[in-house]
Amino acid sequence: MKEIEILVTGRLHAPTLERLENNFTIHLCGAGQAHTIGPDIAKNIRGVVSMSGINRVGIESLPALEIISNFGVGYDAVDVGCAIENSIMISHTPTVLNEEVADTAMGLLINTVRELPAAEAYLRAGKWEKNGSYPLTGNSLQGRTLGIYGLGRIGKAIAHRAEAFGLKIAYFGRNKQDIEYDYYDSLVSLAEAVDTLMIVAPGTPETEQSVNLQVMSALGSNGVIINIGRGSVIDQPALIKALGEGIIGAAGLDVFENEPHVPEELIALPNAVLLPHVGSASLATRNVMGQLVVDNLVGWFENRAPLTPVPEMSR
Ligand code: 8YV
Repeated sequence: MKEIEILVTGRLHAPTLERLENNFTIHLCGAGQAHTIGPDIAKNIRGVVSMSGINRVGIESLPALEIISNFGVGYDAVDVGCAIENSIMISHTPTVLNEEVADTAMGLLINTVRELPAAEAYLRAGKWEKNGSYPLTGNSLQGRTLGIYGLGRIGKAIAHRAEAFGLKIAYFGRNKQDIEYDYYDSLVSLAEAVDTLMIVAPGTPETEQSVNLQVMSALGSNGVIINIGRGSVIDQPALIKALGEGIIGAAGLDVFENEPHVPEELIALPNAVLLPHVGSASLATRNVMGQLVVDNLVGWFENRAPLTPVPEMSR
Protein backbone atom coordinates (compact mmCIF):
# COMPACT_ATOMS: atom_id res chain seq x y z
CA MET A 1 0.00 0.00 0.00
CA LYS A 2 3.07 2.23 -0.03
CA GLU A 3 1.74 4.07 -3.08
CA ILE A 4 -1.21 5.39 -1.05
CA GLU A 5 -0.60 8.90 0.30
CA ILE A 6 -1.87 9.87 3.76
CA LEU A 7 -1.88 13.28 5.42
CA VAL A 8 -1.43 13.46 9.20
CA THR A 9 -2.91 16.65 10.67
CA GLY A 10 -1.52 17.51 14.11
CA ARG A 11 1.12 15.82 16.24
CA LEU A 12 1.09 12.05 16.32
CA HIS A 13 3.22 10.10 18.80
CA ALA A 14 6.20 8.22 17.36
CA PRO A 15 5.06 4.53 17.45
CA THR A 16 1.86 5.27 15.50
CA LEU A 17 3.72 7.43 13.00
CA GLU A 18 6.18 4.58 12.47
CA ARG A 19 3.34 2.10 11.87
CA LEU A 20 1.77 4.47 9.37
CA GLU A 21 5.10 4.93 7.59
CA ASN A 22 5.49 1.16 7.30
CA ASN A 23 2.20 0.96 5.37
CA PHE A 24 1.73 4.25 3.52
CA THR A 25 3.48 7.34 2.17
CA ILE A 26 3.04 9.98 4.85
CA HIS A 27 2.81 13.78 4.70
CA LEU A 28 2.61 15.90 7.84
CA CYS A 29 0.94 19.22 8.57
CA GLY A 30 -0.01 21.19 11.67
CA ALA A 31 -3.36 20.89 13.45
CA GLY A 32 -6.10 22.38 11.28
CA GLN A 33 -3.63 23.07 8.47
CA ALA A 34 -4.72 20.52 5.83
CA HIS A 35 -5.58 23.33 3.38
CA THR A 36 -2.01 24.70 3.48
CA ILE A 37 -0.11 21.74 2.03
CA GLY A 38 -0.22 22.93 -1.58
CA PRO A 39 -2.05 21.46 -4.61
CA ASP A 40 0.77 19.13 -5.76
CA ILE A 41 0.61 17.08 -2.57
CA ALA A 42 -3.10 17.69 -1.90
CA LYS A 43 -4.25 16.12 -5.18
CA ASN A 44 -2.78 12.71 -4.19
CA ILE A 45 -3.99 12.51 -0.58
CA ARG A 46 -6.45 9.60 -0.20
CA GLY A 47 -6.54 9.36 3.59
CA VAL A 48 -6.27 11.76 6.55
CA VAL A 49 -5.24 10.89 10.09
CA SER A 50 -6.89 13.55 12.19
CA MET A 51 -5.51 14.36 15.64
CA SER A 52 -7.51 17.52 16.11
CA GLY A 53 -10.22 17.38 13.49
CA ILE A 54 -10.59 18.63 9.96
CA ASN A 55 -13.04 21.29 8.81
CA ARG A 56 -14.82 21.93 5.50
CA VAL A 57 -11.97 24.02 4.06
CA GLY A 58 -9.51 21.22 4.86
CA ILE A 59 -11.72 18.45 3.45
CA GLU A 60 -12.51 20.37 0.27
CA SER A 61 -8.82 21.10 -0.36
CA LEU A 62 -8.18 17.34 -0.77
CA PRO A 63 -9.93 16.24 -4.00
CA ALA A 64 -8.90 12.56 -3.83
CA LEU A 65 -9.81 12.09 -0.13
CA GLU A 66 -11.59 8.79 0.68
CA ILE A 67 -11.25 8.34 4.45
CA ILE A 68 -10.66 10.37 7.61
CA SER A 69 -9.23 8.12 10.32
CA ASN A 70 -9.80 10.05 13.54
CA PHE A 71 -7.39 9.50 16.43
CA GLY A 72 -9.83 9.51 19.37
CA VAL A 73 -13.36 8.39 20.10
CA GLY A 74 -14.72 11.95 19.92
CA TYR A 75 -14.87 13.32 16.38
CA ASP A 76 -16.67 16.60 17.05
CA ALA A 77 -13.86 18.51 15.27
CA VAL A 78 -14.40 16.57 12.02
CA ASP A 79 -16.97 18.18 9.70
CA VAL A 80 -19.19 15.09 9.37
CA GLY A 81 -21.76 16.79 7.13
CA CYS A 82 -19.09 17.82 4.66
CA ALA A 83 -17.55 14.32 4.69
CA ILE A 84 -20.97 12.74 3.98
CA GLU A 85 -21.65 15.21 1.13
CA ASN A 86 -18.36 14.16 -0.43
CA SER A 87 -18.83 10.40 0.23
CA ILE A 88 -15.85 10.31 2.57
CA MET A 89 -15.64 7.56 5.21
CA ILE A 90 -14.91 8.56 8.83
CA SER A 91 -13.56 6.13 11.42
CA HIS A 92 -12.70 6.69 15.09
CA THR A 93 -11.20 4.77 18.05
CA PRO A 94 -13.95 3.70 20.46
CA THR A 95 -13.65 1.07 23.24
CA VAL A 96 -9.85 0.77 23.43
CA LEU A 97 -9.60 3.87 25.64
CA ASN A 98 -12.58 3.22 27.95
CA GLU A 99 -10.68 1.95 30.98
CA GLU A 100 -7.92 4.59 30.78
CA VAL A 101 -10.38 7.48 30.55
CA ALA A 102 -12.49 5.99 33.37
CA ASP A 103 -9.37 5.73 35.57
CA THR A 104 -8.53 9.37 34.84
CA ALA A 105 -12.12 10.39 35.62
CA MET A 106 -12.00 8.75 39.05
CA GLY A 107 -8.56 10.22 39.77
CA LEU A 108 -9.81 13.67 38.83
CA LEU A 109 -12.90 13.24 41.00
CA ILE A 110 -10.88 12.23 44.06
CA ASN A 111 -8.32 14.99 43.45
CA THR A 112 -11.15 17.50 43.27
CA VAL A 113 -13.08 16.51 46.40
CA ARG A 114 -10.03 15.75 48.54
CA GLU A 115 -7.83 18.58 47.17
CA LEU A 116 -4.89 16.20 46.69
CA PRO A 117 -3.00 18.39 44.15
CA ALA A 118 -3.21 21.37 46.57
CA ALA A 119 -2.15 19.16 49.49
CA GLU A 120 0.89 17.97 47.53
CA ALA A 121 1.78 21.55 46.56
CA TYR A 122 1.53 22.40 50.31
CA LEU A 123 4.07 19.69 51.16
CA ARG A 124 6.43 20.62 48.31
CA ALA A 125 6.35 24.27 49.41
CA GLY A 126 7.64 23.19 52.86
CA LYS A 127 4.40 24.26 54.56
CA TRP A 128 3.73 20.96 56.34
CA GLU A 129 6.90 21.30 58.40
CA LYS A 130 6.54 25.06 58.84
CA ASN A 131 2.77 25.47 59.38
CA GLY A 132 1.55 22.01 60.38
CA SER A 133 -1.08 19.83 58.79
CA TYR A 134 -2.93 20.70 55.59
CA PRO A 135 -6.43 21.99 56.47
CA LEU A 136 -9.19 19.36 56.65
CA THR A 137 -11.05 19.21 53.35
CA GLY A 138 -14.64 20.42 53.35
CA ASN A 139 -15.55 17.79 50.79
CA SER A 140 -15.36 14.02 50.86
CA LEU A 141 -16.11 11.39 48.23
CA GLN A 142 -18.04 9.34 50.75
CA GLY A 143 -21.81 9.71 50.78
CA ARG A 144 -21.93 11.33 47.34
CA THR A 145 -24.39 10.53 44.58
CA LEU A 146 -22.82 10.52 41.16
CA GLY A 147 -24.91 11.76 38.24
CA ILE A 148 -23.42 10.55 34.99
CA TYR A 149 -24.20 12.67 31.94
CA GLY A 150 -23.71 10.27 29.03
CA LEU A 151 -23.89 6.63 30.10
CA GLY A 152 -22.13 5.16 27.08
CA ARG A 153 -19.10 2.87 27.05
CA ILE A 154 -16.88 5.24 29.05
CA GLY A 155 -19.74 6.32 31.33
CA LYS A 156 -20.38 2.68 32.25
CA ALA A 157 -16.68 2.06 32.97
CA ILE A 158 -16.80 5.06 35.34
CA ALA A 159 -20.03 3.82 36.96
CA HIS A 160 -18.44 0.43 37.56
CA ARG A 161 -15.54 2.07 39.39
CA ALA A 162 -17.80 4.47 41.31
CA GLU A 163 -19.87 1.53 42.58
CA ALA A 164 -16.71 0.03 44.06
CA PHE A 165 -16.15 3.36 45.87
CA GLY A 166 -19.65 3.01 47.39
CA LEU A 167 -21.24 5.86 45.44
CA LYS A 168 -24.90 5.89 44.49
CA ILE A 169 -25.32 6.33 40.73
CA ALA A 170 -27.89 8.05 38.53
CA TYR A 171 -27.74 9.16 34.90
CA PHE A 172 -29.13 11.29 32.14
CA GLY A 173 -28.71 10.61 28.44
CA ARG A 174 -30.75 10.51 25.26
CA ASN A 175 -32.43 7.24 26.27
CA LYS A 176 -33.35 5.31 29.39
CA GLN A 177 -31.35 2.09 29.42
CA ASP A 178 -32.01 -1.35 30.78
CA ILE A 179 -29.69 -0.84 33.74
CA GLU A 180 -30.20 -0.61 37.51
CA TYR A 181 -29.18 3.07 37.93
CA ASP A 182 -31.85 5.78 38.36
CA TYR A 183 -32.65 7.57 35.09
CA TYR A 184 -33.60 11.26 34.88
CA ASP A 185 -35.09 12.61 31.69
CA SER A 186 -33.45 16.04 31.93
CA LEU A 187 -30.11 17.37 33.02
CA VAL A 188 -31.70 19.76 35.53
CA SER A 189 -33.69 16.96 37.22
CA LEU A 190 -30.50 14.85 37.41
CA ALA A 191 -28.59 17.80 38.89
CA GLU A 192 -31.35 18.32 41.49
CA ALA A 193 -31.12 14.66 42.54
CA VAL A 194 -27.31 14.36 42.83
CA ASP A 195 -24.40 16.35 44.26
CA THR A 196 -21.72 15.25 41.79
CA LEU A 197 -22.03 15.57 38.02
CA MET A 198 -19.69 13.52 35.82
CA ILE A 199 -19.75 14.78 32.23
CA VAL A 200 -18.88 12.11 29.69
CA ALA A 201 -21.15 13.41 26.92
CA PRO A 202 -19.66 13.99 23.47
CA GLY A 203 -19.42 17.42 21.86
CA THR A 204 -22.50 17.76 19.64
CA PRO A 205 -24.89 20.63 18.81
CA GLU A 206 -27.33 18.95 21.24
CA THR A 207 -24.90 18.92 24.19
CA GLU A 208 -23.29 22.33 23.51
CA GLN A 209 -23.31 24.52 26.67
CA SER A 210 -25.97 22.22 28.13
CA VAL A 211 -24.32 22.34 31.56
CA ASN A 212 -25.41 25.92 32.21
CA LEU A 213 -26.01 28.09 35.29
CA GLN A 214 -29.43 26.51 35.85
CA VAL A 215 -27.87 23.03 36.02
CA MET A 216 -25.09 24.32 38.29
CA SER A 217 -27.61 25.98 40.64
CA ALA A 218 -29.61 22.74 40.75
CA LEU A 219 -26.45 20.86 41.75
CA GLY A 220 -26.01 23.24 44.69
CA SER A 221 -23.23 24.69 46.81
CA ASN A 222 -21.88 21.27 47.80
CA GLY A 223 -21.92 20.27 44.13
CA VAL A 224 -18.92 19.00 42.19
CA ILE A 225 -18.64 18.94 38.39
CA ILE A 226 -16.13 16.70 36.64
CA ASN A 227 -15.69 17.05 32.86
CA ILE A 228 -13.86 14.32 30.99
CA GLY A 229 -16.02 14.60 27.82
CA ARG A 230 -15.75 17.82 25.82
CA GLY A 231 -15.22 21.43 26.87
CA SER A 232 -18.09 22.60 24.67
CA VAL A 233 -20.61 20.77 26.90
CA ILE A 234 -20.12 23.34 29.73
CA ASP A 235 -20.97 27.03 29.63
CA GLN A 236 -17.41 27.93 30.72
CA PRO A 237 -18.01 31.58 31.77
CA ALA A 238 -21.01 30.35 33.83
CA LEU A 239 -18.78 27.73 35.48
CA ILE A 240 -16.20 30.38 36.41
CA LYS A 241 -19.00 32.44 37.99
CA ALA A 242 -20.47 29.38 39.78
CA LEU A 243 -17.08 28.39 41.23
CA GLY A 244 -16.21 31.97 42.20
CA GLU A 245 -19.56 32.68 43.89
CA GLY A 246 -19.99 29.33 45.64
CA ILE A 247 -22.99 28.32 43.50
CA ILE A 248 -21.19 24.96 43.24
CA GLY A 249 -18.36 23.73 45.46
CA ALA A 250 -15.64 22.54 43.08
CA ALA A 251 -14.84 21.32 39.58
CA GLY A 252 -12.32 18.98 37.99
CA LEU A 253 -11.74 19.57 34.29
CA ASP A 254 -9.74 17.60 31.73
CA VAL A 255 -11.29 19.38 28.74
CA PHE A 256 -11.94 23.04 27.91
CA GLU A 257 -13.83 25.25 25.51
CA ASN A 258 -10.90 26.44 23.41
CA GLU A 259 -7.99 24.02 24.01
CA PRO A 260 -5.16 24.46 24.76
CA HIS A 261 -6.21 27.88 26.03
CA VAL A 262 -7.43 27.87 29.64
CA PRO A 263 -8.74 31.25 30.89
CA GLU A 264 -6.77 32.99 33.65
CA GLU A 265 -9.96 33.28 35.74
CA LEU A 266 -10.24 29.50 35.82
CA ILE A 267 -6.56 28.99 36.62
CA ALA A 268 -6.89 31.45 39.52
CA LEU A 269 -9.74 29.50 41.17
CA PRO A 270 -8.54 27.36 44.13
CA ASN A 271 -11.61 25.09 43.88
CA ALA A 272 -10.83 23.93 40.32
CA VAL A 273 -8.51 21.03 39.49
CA LEU A 274 -7.30 21.39 35.90
CA LEU A 275 -5.68 18.79 33.63
CA PRO A 276 -4.34 19.31 30.08
CA HIS A 277 -6.68 16.81 28.31
CA VAL A 278 -4.85 13.68 29.45
CA GLY A 279 -7.87 11.35 29.74
CA SER A 280 -6.47 8.68 27.40
CA ALA A 281 -2.88 9.88 27.40
CA SER A 282 -0.82 6.88 28.50
CA LEU A 283 1.66 5.40 26.06
CA ALA A 284 -0.06 2.00 26.21
CA THR A 285 -3.53 3.35 25.46
CA ARG A 286 -2.32 5.78 22.79
CA ASN A 287 -0.50 2.81 21.18
CA VAL A 288 -3.69 0.74 20.89
CA MET A 289 -5.62 3.79 19.68
CA GLY A 290 -2.89 4.39 17.09
CA GLN A 291 -3.01 0.77 16.00
CA LEU A 292 -6.75 1.12 15.43
CA VAL A 293 -6.18 4.32 13.43
CA VAL A 294 -3.80 2.39 11.15
CA ASP A 295 -6.05 -0.72 10.99
CA ASN A 296 -9.00 1.45 9.95
CA LEU A 297 -6.97 2.83 7.03
CA VAL A 298 -5.70 -0.62 6.03
CA GLY A 299 -9.25 -2.04 6.24
CA TRP A 300 -10.52 0.74 4.02
CA PHE A 301 -7.85 0.47 1.35
CA GLU A 302 -7.92 -3.36 1.34
CA ASN A 303 -11.65 -3.88 1.04
CA ARG A 304 -13.59 -0.70 1.91
CA ALA A 305 -14.17 -2.03 5.44
CA PRO A 306 -12.71 0.06 8.28
CA LEU A 307 -13.01 -1.68 11.66
CA THR A 308 -14.71 1.16 13.53
CA PRO A 309 -16.59 3.61 11.31
CA VAL A 310 -18.44 6.42 13.16
CA PRO A 311 -22.19 5.72 13.66
CA GLU A 312 -23.23 8.24 10.97
CA MET A 313 -21.61 6.02 8.32
CA SER A 314 -24.10 3.20 8.81
CA ARG A 315 -27.24 5.36 8.61
C1 8YV B 1 -7.96 11.82 22.13
C2 8YV B 1 -10.10 12.20 23.21
O1 8YV B 1 -6.98 10.91 22.16
O2 8YV B 1 -10.69 10.12 22.31
C3 8YV B 1 -11.00 11.29 22.47
O3 8YV B 1 -12.08 11.74 22.08
O4 8YV B 1 -10.47 13.23 23.63
C4 8YV B 1 -8.71 11.79 23.42
O5 8YV B 1 -8.72 10.54 24.00
C5 8YV B 1 -7.40 13.15 21.81
O6 8YV B 1 -8.44 13.97 21.42
C6 8YV B 1 -6.32 13.03 20.73
O7 8YV B 1 -6.45 13.94 19.75
